[in-house]
Amino acid sequence: MHAIGPVNALYPMPTTLVGATVNEKPNFLAVAHVGILNHGTPQYLSIGLHKSHYTNAGIHENRTFSICLPSEDLMVATDYCGIMSGKKTDKAALFDVFYGELKNAPMIHQCPVNMEMKLHEVLDFETHDIFVGELVQTHADDRVLRDGSIDIAKLKPLLFDMASKQYWALGEPVGNCWNAGKALKG
Ligand SMILES: Cc1cc2nc3c(=O)[nH]c(=O)nc-3n(C[C@H](O)[C@H](O)[C@H](O)COP(=O)(O)O)c2cc1C
Repeated sequence: MHAIGPVNALYPMPTTLVGATVNEKPNFLAVAHVGILNHGTPQYLSIGLHKSHYTNAGIHENRTFSICLPSEDLMVATDYCGIMSGKKTDKAALFDVFYGELKNAPMIHQCPVNMEMKLHEVLDFETHDIFVGELVQTHADDRVLRDGSIDIAKLKPLLFDMASKQYWALGEPVGNCWNAGKALKG
């Protein structure tokens, strides 16, 4: 084993497109630093956004945002949303935008899964705003549903890895959760 410094080794992460209304217009940016804070109702999710981004002000102002999941086929548009800033570019023009229960959390028809988030609190880190949201509603396209649940094999999430700076695809399932470990039970 080598000590390689405080390297965040939690990759891959799903690449998401976070939507917000900024200056009364929809804007989207690529966000891989998403967090699952619990499993329950209410369900809380976090996003870590550098304070330099255009999007932050819109989330502070409207107290809503969306977390949209692009499939592999949206890689180019997703990456573009991670390169360009809404300060100068209308990134929402790339997509068919729709709204759900929260009237100002823009979502994307081309993304097979979209989550509407109500802002719960903001952790004010030195360089980042950590926006903690409460999940209000999830919108999923029929093409990724199996028996009413999201089938990740159909979703084909776009995985992000910081070390290789590449997008990766999902592999095959290797076992059943809460079950595989039973093999070691006496
Ligand atoms: C794959 C990918 C993942 C990214 N993840 C994050 C992230 O988790 N947090 C963040 O602050 N910026 C992240 N970025 C950078 C922003 O998406 C990028 O700076 C964007 O242009 C900001 O847009 P805005 O100025 O319109 O808000 C990521 C970029 C890429 C390409």
